[in-house]
Amino acid sequence: MYRTHTCGALSIQEAGKTVTLAGWVQTIRKFGAITFVDLRDRYGITQLLFGEELNRELENNPLGREFVLQVTGTVKERSSKNPQLLTGDIEITVTSFTILNKSVTPPFTIQDDTDGGDDLRMKYRYLDLRRNVVKQNLELRYAVNRAARNYLHENGFMDIETPFLIKSTPEGARDFVVPSRMNEGQFYALPQSPQTFKQLLMVSGYDRYYQVVKCFRDEDLRADRQPEFTQIDCEMSFVEQEDILNMFEGLIKYIFKEVKGISYTDAVERMTWEEAMWQYGNDKPDIRFGMQMANLKFPAYTFPSKTPAIANGLPAGFKVFDEAETVVAIAVPGCSEYSRKQTDELTEWVKRPQIGMKGLAFIKCNADGTYKSSFDKFFTEEQLKAIAGAAQANAGDLILILAGAEERTRKAISELRLEMGKKLGLRKEDEFKLLWVLDFPLFEYSEEDNLTGGQAGRWVARHHPFTSPKPSDIATMISNSPVIKDAANYLAHPYANIKANAYDMVLNGNEIGGGSIRIFQRALQEKMFAALGMSHDEAIHKFGFLLGAFEYGAPPHGGIAFGFDRLCAILGGSESIRDFIAFPKNNSGRDVMLDAPSTIDDKQLDELSIILKDK
Ligand code: AMO
Repeated sequence: MYRTHTCGALSIQEAGKTVTLAGWVQTIRKFGAITFVDLRDRYGITQLLFGEELNRELENNPLGREFVLQVTGTVKERSSKNPQLLTGDIEITVTSFTILNKSVTPPFTIQDDTDGGDDLRMKYRYLDLRRNVVKQNLELRYAVNRAARNYLHENGFMDIETPFLIKSTPEGARDFVVPSRMNEGQFYALPQSPQTFKQLLMVSGYDRYYQVVKCFRDEDLRADRQPEFTQIDCEMSFVEQEDILNMFEGLIKYIFKEVKGISYTDAVERMTWEEAMWQYGNDKPDIRFGMQMANLKFPAYTFPSKTPAIANGLPAGFKVFDEAETVVAIAVPGCSEYSRKQTDELTEWVKRPQIGMKGLAFIKCNADGTYKSSFDKFFTEEQLKAIAGAAQANAGDLILILAGAEERTRKAISELRLEMGKKLGLRKEDEFKLLWVLDFPLFEYSEEDNLTGGQAGRWVARHHPFTSPKPSDIATMISNSPVIKDAANYLAHPYANIKANAYDMVLNGNEIGGGSIRIFQRALQEKMFAALGMSHDEAIHKFGFLLGAFEYGAPPHGGIAFGFDRLCAILGGSESIRDFIAFPKNNSGRDVMLDAPSTIDDKQLDELSIILKDK
């Protein structure tokens, strides 16, 4: 028997007992003729005391960090207790020990505050995983996984595995492809999600499906994206949007309760996509704080039902505003006394290429009721006051104004709002705010050529091509041609206003899940493929199996998928999903530990009938 207890198990209750422990040497502290060793395993750390006699043995068989050690000894109450440790009341007076395995000196310290840089830790990920902080992240991940499975099982969902070697699934990214040896010159694609399979399972009558499943997407990576990531993927039959929203806010609330002990009793807020873009410039707003934007000027086609925030429009006279398509503002509370240096820094911030604005205008709403702006020359005090009113600013606030092209400016103000929220401590890690964003547009404009009409620009599915339009918009979809004749004015095309039965769940400004009610009739699905510029032959080639299935009694159905890694990262208070994945890839999509991807030898290439271009 290697051990009687783990390194996290012993307390004062076992005092006097003889025990055997096994684990890794965390630290070695010599005090004259005696030595203290901290022994670590997954469960905790236990202090070992090597007395004079064993100390001499240690001189012949010296220990080192990360050695695997087995000790037998007696549990003793400690004279100086360590309340930080589970086992802090006791230590083991060692009577015998065996070195089970040695370790070379690790390349970084296996501690919470390690001296190892990112790359080094990824190269030796198996050592990094020994660190307590990383272990806690994986424990949280497992707790989320368990809670999700419990909830879904209790609600009648069935876990069904779907294949990885498949045909392309359109989720908007590039596919990873796998050559087939047995089918020369042919390739599988790895699933970007199990989307079509879960729909087929509904056709097969499985009614409630789920899977905690790997998805593969070849896209540019960011802190919240990995080329292979995990979804909690779900689908239900005979449901409307409302059923899905209720079922899955239930899931997230259950996870909050089980994993974080948080009772999220409030109803999850809901916002249409249009409101989100109007108030926050963003389809995944962080609603832990206000600071909504004032739309001072915008092109009429973007929000046909809205009017500018200033009654008579933005006053003319300031060239930057006059020439801009869009002018938007936020009132930052309590920052009217920002110094020149501080406003200059913010200006530099919005000019960074990632934000891409030409400059930043501001109005200081002084405590005495007066106004001071960066464009005083052009506006009267009354006019500044009108903007302050529109931005719902109070005395003491700093109004930040951005002007430029519609999409970029809206995106920029949304980034600036988040930055100011962060600066003011309004984005608290331990506060969780959920939001449903609803009524997304069905289509998105893409500058790629229209495949059927040969014109510039075409429609792509904003969510994916299986998402149904709102019933009231189906007629618009059927009766209009998808061809975009006037690319510059694509928003005037009737398709631009078609809304989808799609929803995203947002947590603290992150999209943690998304789904839709699906198309389940062949004719509408064919129309959808045609709207996306797919010829009939192409639709049959790519999705004939699904169109065929829709002819055999497909039930109405819908579903959602949650980004499991993202959910874990947010619950764990981190921005990076890598910290919550046992063996993640770096930002170039590499596994630096395995050194993958890598070349393969000629024999393998031969078997696959592949000739590399540059060889
Ligand atoms: P979608 O593409 O919105 O929907 O993905 C669902 C959720 O998965 C997470 N996610 C990612 N996480 C890490 N790395 C990535 N590269 C990555 N891409 C997406 C996000 C996202 O909200 N089949 C549909 C779902 C459905 O319609 O039911 C789908 O995959 O949190």
